[in-house]
Amino acid sequence: MKSKVSNNALFPDKDEKNQVLKKLWQSLDEIQIENSTVTTMLDLTNFRKQLTAIDFNQSNQLSDMVDWTIQHLQKGLVQMTHPGYMGLFNPAPTFPAEVANIISTAFNPQNCVWSHAPVAVEIESHVIKQITTRLGLTKSATGHFTSGGSEANATAFVCALHHKNSDFAEEGVTSFRGQPCIYVSKESHLAWLKIAVTTGVGRKSIRLIATDGQGRMDTVALRKAIKQDIKARKLPVMVVATAGTTNAGKIDPIISCRKICNEYKLWLHVDAAWGGALLVSDIYKNRLDGIESADSITIDAHKWFATTMGAGMFFTRHKSVLSSLFSVSTDYMPSNDIEQDLYVNSMLWSRRFIGLPLFMSLATVGWQGYAQHIEHGIDLIAYLSEELTTKGWQLVNHSDMAIACLLPPDNSSLSPSQIVAKIVDKGEQWISVTKFEEQSVIRICITNGMTTQNHIDALIKNLLETIK
Ligand SMILES: Cc1ncc(COP(=O)(O)O)c(C=O)c1O
Repeated sequence: MKSKVSNNALFPDKDEKNQVLKKLWQSLDEIQIENSTVTTMLDLTNFRKQLTAIDFNQSNQLSDMVDWTIQHLQKGLVQMTHPGYMGLFNPAPTFPAEVANIISTAFNPQNCVWSHAPVAVEIESHVIKQITTRLGLTKSATGHFTSGGSEANATAFVCALHHKNSDFAEEGVTSFRGQPCIYVSKESHLAWLKIAVTTGVGRKSIRLIATDGQGRMDTVALRKAIKQDIKARKLPVMVVATAGTTNAGKIDPIISCRKICNEYKLWLHVDAAWGGALLVSDIYKNRLDGIESADSITIDAHKWFATTMGAGMFFTRHKSVLSSLFSVSTDYMPSNDIEQDLYVNSMLWSRRFIGLPLFMSLATVGWQGYAQHIEHGIDLIAYLSEELTTKGWQLVNHSDMAIACLLPPDNSSLSPSQIVAKIVDKGEQWISVTKFEEQSVIRICITNGMTTQNHIDALIKNLLETIK
């Protein structure tokens, strides 16, 4: 057999690679997202026709496919990198994060086993250690990168179950005498319901606790629910305090939740998927007070830390619970060292170099540089809220973070959803409508580090024109 690569198009030589990459950079460089609409402008029928024609019965030039993909993505996405995107927790990625992604794609390290990727694994554990220290967790605390907040929360869920009942890892939920109960506020992120299904405890195990009129968990209602469940011979297991609710950026009373957990011997998880980024700011990090007392914590890198998608983090004070749950031993793996092999301490097996984008961003600008990013978002929301409230709008959430939930003036004939629909239709900004304390509100969230006061002024102008 002649010595050649299996397929030149899949594994081209250096010259061919360079040609494609040069063209790719040119095409990406020419994109000016800010000058187009933040919303989709796709001719869907035409796109679907073209997509159907790519049926893999014939091959294409890679450079043509690159052009085709970029051309359609430019029109067929809600654009997170547009400074007018003021919507869900989807950021424009930092430039160091983008660069990091290119590097990790080129090397494609396998981070599940230390011996396969010692440098990559140690870079990730360095980031985790630095954040652990900044959070004020004990020295023995541990953590790892996850695919996102949902995986980190699911990890907390099984850790709490196992901590309650050490037969859980072997016997599963049948080892519980009574239904395990998890307490989250009704404003929490409802991936908890999905997690309850996948762990086998079922949705009924999730107690949606009432809020206090300001979007935070009502701890009187929490205590009452726990007592009721105990009386009904159910098994309270975990309380989740959300630090940065998805709707309104509110923080549940973490310290009171801790006290209740101590009283009833429950696991306290803090879901700081969005709000955890406050830890970088010396001005605002005290808003997370009490987080250091949590049994476990979720923080997403791909939310306010603005890395590329799928990057979350899980932290816990109970290192041994992770290995009790996830440790396995097989001959085909080079090792199963619970001190350093990630696959024996976490849900994932194979994994990308998830932590490099956050490492690269933090290493480039430090805590202080990140603090500027966080504080900028909070300042912009304060500016927007002040400008609109002086014109008769109502700010209903008074968030600890960069989210405003607003109502138009009383004399407006348009509802929040009608106003949002008109703004989104115009294509200059993407904002959303949600419910805050049972009331329909306009939700505006700063996620993009390139959004400036000028962009906020443009939004204010559009909002005021809409209700004229
Ligand atoms: C508070 C909170 N927790 C968890 C999640 C789920 O995170 P992910 O989408 O990264 O899985 C979200 C998503 O918005 C969230 O807002």
